[in-house]
Amino acid sequence: MLSWDEFDKPEETTAAAPGRMAAAQLASEDDAPSSVQDARAVSADDSDAVARAKAALDALDIQEGLDDLEGASARVQVGDKQMINARADLNQLVPFKYDWAWQKYLDGCANHWMPQEVNMTADIALWKSKDGLTEDERRIVKRNLGFFSTADSLVANNLVLAVYRLITNPECRQYILRQAFEEAIHTHAYQYCIESLGMDEGEIFNMYHEIPSVAKKASWGLKYTRSISDPTFTTGTVDTDKQFLRNLIAYYCVLEGVFFYCGFTQILSMGRRNKMTGTAEQFQYILRDESMHLNFGIDMINQIKIENPHLWDAAMKDEATQMILQGTQLEIEYARDTMPRGVLGMNAAMMEDYLKFIANRRLTQIGLPEQYAGASNPFPWMSEIMDLKKEKNFFETRVIEYQTGGALSWD
Ligand SMILES: [Fe+2]
Ligand SMILES: [Fe+2]
Repeated sequence: MLSWDEFDKPEETTAAAPGRMAAAQLASEDDAPSSVQDARAVSADDSDAVARAKAALDALDIQEGLDDLEGASARVQVGDKQMINARADLNQLVPFKYDWAWQKYLDGCANHWMPQEVNMTADIALWKSKDGLTEDERRIVKRNLGFFSTADSLVANNLVLAVYRLITNPECRQYILRQAFEEAIHTHAYQYCIESLGMDEGEIFNMYHEIPSVAKKASWGLKYTRSISDPTFTTGTVDTDKQFLRNLIAYYCVLEGVFFYCGFTQILSMGRRNKMTGTAEQFQYILRDESMHLNFGIDMINQIKIENPHLWDAAMKDEATQMILQGTQLEIEYARDTMPRGVLGMNAAMMEDYLKFIANRRLTQIGLPEQYAGASNPFPWMSEIMDLKKEKNFFETRVIEYQTGGALSWD
């Protein structure tokens, strides 16, 4: 007589290893249809090179390749997914666990833009005219192109060489790939401005180690890349997980979350006054992307905290607070260096207030208390620029153009 116990037994064995069974079937070429086997047979028409390629495939051990895919022996369940140290197969995008990451990937793609779409004619005329801009305004344009032209490369390198490998979740990796491309577009945009304006490229691209206020910000960030970009670095212990978390806080909360804000505000303020409108438009689209990078980073950091509460101890909280305060201090110094006097309706003191307001936001976004009592936002128009929904229909028109561009031909 049959009982459910007997049904349970074989189900357990087959359910435990569906992936391995598939791998075993794949490994046996004898099971392939004869037409597939015939395709592999060396014929008289085959050149020596083709014959060698077929022979090499005969010797291929498929199981060996599959064994390299850690955790790939089973279908992924949502519960197997984790931000760091996951053992689930990273090649299976679905089922999604972190919908926010996938949504940001879709939003990023919907906001695609390219630097060449922005008209730079008025900027070129203004930059080249003798009395178009004051010395203080010219200093702001040069310093910011100097800082940003290399800062976005630092972010991209950190992302691709360090962060991507250590985030063990495919939907987050999908957004990181999108972000990495956006960083390339940003570096392209700065290069496009520098070239259009006929600036000394060597001077601008070397500011990150020649101008102290720029160099200090760059080297502060690089310190955090250095510790995890070693190819042998892995997470998995409390110390190394904390090291990785520090890198995420340094790049997402400080570099993209604080270091960009003085420069963005200065250039956008210029645009609001009808000066360097092309450059300002480029910065506006970059700021839009950056605010999404920042929000993605905050979500990642908070999710890692939820999944690994032991990492977020008093020492780590203090360190994270210190990092944000150090970054804010460096940005205040950068504001003073770039604005020795009042310019464009703003001055270093107003910027300092704004940066403290921003720092309070960054602290609370990752669950830490504010550190600058009473800091207020003297530039409320910045938040409007960052708000995707309030934008003119630039992105809508761009999306349509990309879809119907017709630049590719399949002939
Ligand atoms: Fe960027
Ligand atoms: Fe970014």
